[in-house]
Amino acid sequence: MLHVFAARQIRNRATLGGNIATASPIGDSAPVLMALDASLVLAGARKTRTVPLADFFTGYRQTVLQPGEVIKEIVLPKYAPARGLKRRADFIKVSHRQELDISIVAAAFCVDTDARGVVRAARIAYGGVAERTKRALRAEAGLIGRKWSEAAAEVAVVLKTEFTPIDDVRSGAAYRRGLVVSLWEKFVTGEASHVHDLPADYAYQGPWAIDEATKALRHESAAGHVTGRALYVDDTAQKRPMLEVWPVMAPHAHAKIKRRDATAARRLPGVVAVLMAEDIPGENNTGPARHDEPLFATDEVRFHGQVVAVVVGESLRACRAAAALVQVEYEPLPAVLGVRAAIAQDSYHTDWHALARGDAAAALAAAPSRFDGELEFGGQEHFYLETQAAWAEAGEDGSITVNSSTQHPSEIQAIVSEVLHVARHKVVVQAPRMGGGFGGKETQGNAIAAYVALAAVKTGRPVRLQLDRDLDMSLTGKRHPFLAKFSVGHDADGRILALQAELVADGGWSLDLSQPIADRALFHIDNAYYIPALSCRSRAAKTHVTSHTAFRGFGGPQGIMVIEEVMDRIARRTGLAPEVVRERNLYHGTGETNRTHYHEDVGDNRIQDIWRQALDEAKFAERRAAVEAWNASHPRIKRGLAITPVKFGISFTLTHYNQAGAYVVIYSDGSVQVNHGGTEMGQGLHTKIQGVAMRELGLPAASIRMMTTATDKVPNTSATAASSGADLNGAAVAAACVTLRERLAGVAAPMLGVAVEQVEFVHGHAQERGNANNKVPFAKVCSHAYAARVSLAATGYYKTPGIHWDWSTSSGRPFHYFACGAAVAEVEVDGFTGMQRVRRVDIVHDVGDSLNPGVDRGQIEGGFVQGMGWLTSEELKWDAKGRLLTHSASTYQIPDISDAPMEFNVTLLPKAAQPNTIHGSKAVGEPPLMLAFSVREAIRDAVAAFGKSGDEVRLASPATGEAIYAAIQARAGA
Ligand code: MTE
Ligand code: HPA
Ligand code: MOS
Repeated sequence: MLHVFAARQIRNRATLGGNIATASPIGDSAPVLMALDASLVLAGARKTRTVPLADFFTGYRQTVLQPGEVIKEIVLPKYAPARGLKRRADFIKVSHRQELDISIVAAAFCVDTDARGVVRAARIAYGGVAERTKRALRAEAGLIGRKWSEAAAEVAVVLKTEFTPIDDVRSGAAYRRGLVVSLWEKFVTGEASHVHDLPADYAYQGPWAIDEATKALRHESAAGHVTGRALYVDDTAQKRPMLEVWPVMAPHAHAKIKRRDATAARRLPGVVAVLMAEDIPGENNTGPARHDEPLFATDEVRFHGQVVAVVVGESLRACRAAAALVQVEYEPLPAVLGVRAAIAQDSYHTDWHALARGDAAAALAAAPSRFDGELEFGGQEHFYLETQAAWAEAGEDGSITVNSSTQHPSEIQAIVSEVLHVARHKVVVQAPRMGGGFGGKETQGNAIAAYVALAAVKTGRPVRLQLDRDLDMSLTGKRHPFLAKFSVGHDADGRILALQAELVADGGWSLDLSQPIADRALFHIDNAYYIPALSCRSRAAKTHVTSHTAFRGFGGPQGIMVIEEVMDRIARRTGLAPEVVRERNLYHGTGETNRTHYHEDVGDNRIQDIWRQALDEAKFAERRAAVEAWNASHPRIKRGLAITPVKFGISFTLTHYNQAGAYVVIYSDGSVQVNHGGTEMGQGLHTKIQGVAMRELGLPAASIRMMTTATDKVPNTSATAASSGADLNGAAVAAACVTLRERLAGVAAPMLGVAVEQVEFVHGHAQERGNANNKVPFAKVCSHAYAARVSLAATGYYKTPGIHWDWSTSSGRPFHYFACGAAVAEVEVDGFTGMQRVRRVDIVHDVGDSLNPGVDRGQIEGGFVQGMGWLTSEELKWDAKGRLLTHSASTYQIPDISDAPMEFNVTLLPKAAQPNTIHGSKAVGEPPLMLAFSVREAIRDAVAAFGKSGDEVRLASPATGEAIYAAIQARAGA
């Protein structure tokens, strides 16, 4: 069991005694030790006593330990098998993920039989099914003295009623009830699976050989990330004393505020200010798209945890104590929770947006086969490692500097200027780097920055704020959960003929980016498939939870979820293999069958090539046969195989966001600073752009420094989002470099004695084109330029050509191009527990002519695993009062290293240069996340194998162990 006991780091620090003494009903060690009949030696100041572990726990987190007593020893009876005596023992843990997780149910079994196969001793212990770890005494009694071969099966019946587990945040009672029996069955049958029983073995391609220096750059902060030297927003803040901030949060999802009084709080020592709406010089608003987000709630609370006031003080301790003294009187109101409730109550932020092609109703009516369906699926917490953070310091004349962990410095600047009621030129926002943003820092940092800015102005002192994990998860928005309803028409060959769909996104309490997110879902409901007749619409619902926001894919994943669901349902209904149905429906040829439902041509048909290459590299046909053979001989452990495509539109759908600026300065020693409007969040944007500048100026990496993103260097920027950071800012930097190169060529030409057109910049020199013998060092050209009074600083600007979109007519060309890929995934599902493991993944992805293959590979692998998390282990749960239950690392499980595919192969589509983009490259940040649908579909394929073929295979999303277990029960007709 050791590899699933906490994690290596924790095992190195924690103690077995501690794990027992804490008396958690889900502690991992107790069931094992109980099954082994352990006793504890308890030592007090005066005497020592021995207690069987089975008698040690007395109730929920209660033990027989007296004050002052400690666990001194754990005694295990020595097992000395007499002749013919045989011991069977096992430990099985069910949790959301393999490592670093708490059990849902854990069981330990130890059964001794004699030479005649009669059970002599039996101990069965379960964790997670009662208020404490318990033995299954009735089941044990049912075994003793009986023949193992007969009694083992009968005991399963006894176990069915031995415990009455409860529902909690970790799982439903039904799952736990089922597990009590099926863990026993797993023990009895001994059926082993990769999921629980086999060591984690990983196969990995190793590093790629990249022979071009400008593309082989390692992430510019890689060493800083792993050594801790990279400075994040709060690292800088911590270097000197700053005031701290703690929020006062509403304990209702929806309520009227009757009274607010901070008098007592303000009197507490160490408190410098308690700020509320009345203290704001400008607007009490941080809403990015619509002014519907008060910085402080005044008369109405619209989600559980909404901030009513902030305490600013000398220490967090003082702030927290004072926050508890702020008196707020609420009158609770009924809350709208979930999309269905919002629909029932007609609660929306937006009206419908619709896209159509042909006459979908007629095509549906005429289709040989039709079905209706519905799918409700969950959102996702960003779980960036660095939580939301900002600090601010006021300067002279109403100016202020804000350091923010944001994807969108210009918007932070705009919000701060509105809240403080000063013009934007008074506000400088710097964004050094983020420890992950994933869309969660496109708008959700606005309020954090506004709190510290307001506090800095009010107190005249620098102020810092970094949310702790619980606050961050409770206060900030997530990926939108959706409810989709659809009607599908298809033929017997599995071709989709018509699709009608309605998508409703849970937007949460304010609009935020819900409109463009619901739009992008609509734009991606085709994924990579040609749908001849379509009529779809989407809309954002208004509910009383955090305001849901951008998250890698930005609605695209939600649209694709729907069509991938539809593809599988068509496959199961027609009896065709899902990969056959998917392939038949891919965009193909030219003209109408290669045009989206918004009438944009897909362009050169890469999807077909990618698809074939992925099938090939994965040896799909061969492995399909192997999976079938496996499934035929394994009743409770099944494998599944699937391939899914992705086609993702690159550009902000709000056309004017597709612009970027840069400011490149060269010093007279030839060293270069590059400023651009993009932000670095780990995605390698700076690294890619450094490579762009190296190529443009012919300089080595050491000559080029990437500068902190700041609004006083490059103004009026767009969010670094929509995967377009490198496309937009890279092109802007290249434009600035071209300007500088032209100026420098004029200086270098007389130095080289050649015409201006003959000058090229390579390897740190200006040289005569094609003649390396005639060259001068770049630095020398720069010092000459300075002496000749030639400007060495230039701005660059770029706007994406040829795109526009108009919702009033639903017409235009929204995307500059599409990024495509395909993934093949194979999973193994343990039918006893519902847990799964990804055995192998093969990805072929199109990044054009990569700016940096290593960085792109990191984006593909990381995006894929993040998508897997959304689709499998990560589950958001709110209680009936609208309080987020999963607000910590112990209740919300992102994938960890042991969830990585056991074999993970990534290939970049070769010869893929994209016309009209920066150095022929394509955006990569978001699209690979959607390749993770291959895992969801592979799981579904495995679930299907638990029953007869035919019929839809329903699978909830996220496909947690609990959901998979339920799907198997349904499939197997249990
Ligand atoms: N990769 C890392 N390591 N960290 C992140 O926060 N965000 C993703 C993606 N990859 C993210 C990431 C999202 S949501 C987007 S839109 C893009 O990076 C943004 O960066 P780009 O436009 O430079 O690709
Ligand atoms: N993607 C990401 N962020 C955005 C978009 C988009 O399409 N539009 C507005 N913000
Ligand atoms: Mo990414 S969701 O566009 O920040």
